[in-house]
Amino acid sequence: MAAALAVVASLVAPSFAASAQVFSPPSTSPYVESANYTGFSNGSLPVQHVTPGLLFDRFIQIWFENTDFAVANSTAEFRSLADRGVLMTRYYALTHPSQPNYVAALGGSFWGMADDAYYNIPANVSTMVDLLEQANISWASYQEHMPTDGYNEATYTSNNYIDPSAADYTYYWRKHNPTIIYDSVSNISSRAALHRNFNDFAVDVNASAIPQWVFVTPNIVNDAHDTTIDFAADFLNYWLEPLLADPRFNDNRTLILITFDENENYGINNQIFSVLLGGALPEELRGTVDTTYYTHYSSMSSIQANWGLGSLGRNDTNEMMANVWSFIADAVGYNNTFVADADIPLTNITGTIPGPLNSNSSFVTPWPAPNTSAVGAGGGPVFVSDDSEECE
Ligand SMILES: *[C@@H]1O[C@H](CO)[C@@H](O)[C@H](O)[C@H]1NC(C)=O
Ligand SMILES: *[C@@H]1O[C@H](CO)[C@@H](O)[C@H](O)[C@H]1NC(C)=O
Ligand SMILES: *[C@@H]1O[C@H](CO)[C@@H](O)[C@H](O)[C@H]1NC(C)=O
Ligand SMILES: *[C@@H]1O[C@H](CO)[C@@H](O)[C@H](O)[C@H]1NC(C)=O
Ligand SMILES: *[C@@H]1O[C@H](CO)[C@@H](O)[C@H](O)[C@H]1NC(C)=O
Ligand SMILES: *[C@@H]1O[C@H](CO)[C@@H](O)[C@H](O)[C@H]1NC(C)=O
Ligand SMILES: *[C@@H]1O[C@H](CO)[C@@H](O)[C@H](O)[C@H]1NC(C)=O
Ligand SMILES: *[C@@H]1O[C@H](CO)[C@@H](O)[C@H](O)[C@H]1NC(C)=O
Ligand SMILES: *[C@@H]1O[C@H](CO)[C@@H](O)[C@H](O)[C@H]1NC(C)=O
Ligand SMILES: *[C@@H]1O[C@H](CO)[C@@H](O)[C@H](O)[C@H]1NC(C)=O
Ligand SMILES: *[C@@H]1O[C@H](CO)[C@@H](O)[C@H](O)[C@H]1NC(C)=O
Ligand SMILES: *[C@@H]1O[C@H](CO)[C@@H](O)[C@H](O)[C@H]1NC(C)=O
Repeated sequence: MAAALAVVASLVAPSFAASAQVFSPPSTSPYVESANYTGFSNGSLPVQHVTPGLLFDRFIQIWFENTDFAVANSTAEFRSLADRGVLMTRYYALTHPSQPNYVAALGGSFWGMADDAYYNIPANVSTMVDLLEQANISWASYQEHMPTDGYNEATYTSNNYIDPSAADYTYYWRKHNPTIIYDSVSNISSRAALHRNFNDFAVDVNASAIPQWVFVTPNIVNDAHDTTIDFAADFLNYWLEPLLADPRFNDNRTLILITFDENENYGINNQIFSVLLGGALPEELRGTVDTTYYTHYSSMSSIQANWGLGSLGRNDTNEMMANVWSFIADAVGYNNTFVADADIPLTNITGTIPGPLNSNSSFVTPWPAPNTSAVGAGGGPVFVSDDSEECE
């Protein structure tokens, strides 16, 4: 039922919403709670223990939607971020459509998934959350327009704050919230509660309580999905720019990734615009370009390298697809794999990649166990789920 609704709405929403909407801020500032976000915060996270990383102590990734590299790279705000960061010019999403890319960046596989339907990934499947918690690294997912903390429904529809005379609008989509899709996260109440909305964000940043590993999903208009890259640029000006100047968000031990789930044009390979920013980025790298071949798996291997973590024994240890962001690889002595243009795999494919969540029975395979002999960029052991712990 939920899946069917999600699929229908995703087919309908963009067709009439595409260019008509004009950015309007959902609150007066990123620091202020807003009735446009359904649930008001019930208090900040505690200020937590900090586990130091080699090059940074906090990692914040912010995901935008469905944009070709060239389109983002020709938009002033994104160019401006590139001028202050490292622009990675050979960074690729993994497949189409959206959801499998989010799921992959958290669990090291997209499990053959080829749609945006409602999935529960079994509780014995580990994720980055297991590796982080094992190392006492705090984390949270901030989901704009999610109504209540830990909300696990497919969508949430609320007042159209941009045009109050229009019908209510579905701003929140679970398919863009990767941690909640894994039962190993959502079935544990303390983990579910770390899915927080932007009212919580306002409270957490004021309390200097932003955790060490953070996933941010703007709502479905601010992330460019139902709108345009210019709309997303206006959102960045409203939300990110003030935070970049605030040490409670971006201090000299913070690394920020701005990325896109996938490109827009399925007819070309899946290259996306990704930039690293933040106070932890060495001064001499700002405004530079990195031409290493990266994918969404690189956001797992790079984090594993920074904190010397273990791995999941999946594509987070794939030597070609999980190259570590160069400035980290150089610092830890990890040898990235050079991939020539002609050898970059086509990842604009959808539907025909085998896995347990492929909806076509011709492509369904069993849930694979982790490769326990793999060694990732952090050098630590492969995490193997303890079922009794994960079913609490
Ligand atoms: C909700 O968003 C609208 C549109 O930007 C804005 O005019 C209004 O002030 C917002 N409400 C609150 C409480 O911030
Ligand atoms: C882990 O983090 C908790 C809470 O933030 C802190 O109280 C504790 O001392 C840390 N434990 C270790 C072993 O560092
Ligand atoms: C991105 O845009 C800049 C500025 O226009 C341009 O110099 C650069 O070549 C572009 N990068 C790529 C990889 O196309
Ligand atoms: C805070 O608690 C109230 C009362 O239970 C609830 O209505 C609200 O949605 C909660 N806020 C969030 C962000 O979960
Ligand atoms: C955060 O602090 C600012 C500045 O003091 C204040 O205006 C704002 O209301 C605070 N936000 C919250 C959610 O307490
Ligand atoms: C980083 O910030 C801390 C705290 O504000 C400060 O003590 C330290 O000197 C800064 N380090 C550098 C390299 O700027
Ligand atoms: C994927 O991209 C390649 C290279 O641009 C193109 O030749 C191919 O047709 C695309 N595949 C699909 C399924 O559109
Ligand atoms: C991921 O890993 C699996 C198994 O190791 C492999 O079959 C698959 O092709 C990899 N690639 C992608 C893009 O996920
Ligand atoms: C990296 O490559 C260099 C040169 O090929 C080699 O000497 C070194 O052992 C490699 N390091 C690792 C960690 O594999
Ligand atoms: C499932 O895959 C097979 C083999 O490629 C194909 O012939 C069939 O049309 C697919 N079925 C659906 C419903 O897409
Ligand atoms: C995890 O559970 C699924 C069923 O939900 C099972 O098929 C699979 O073999 C299990 N995997 C491991 C590694 O235990
Ligand atoms: C986790 O939650 C899902 C969905 O609510 C449920 O189907 C599943 O049985 C739960 N798994 C465990 C191991 O508790």
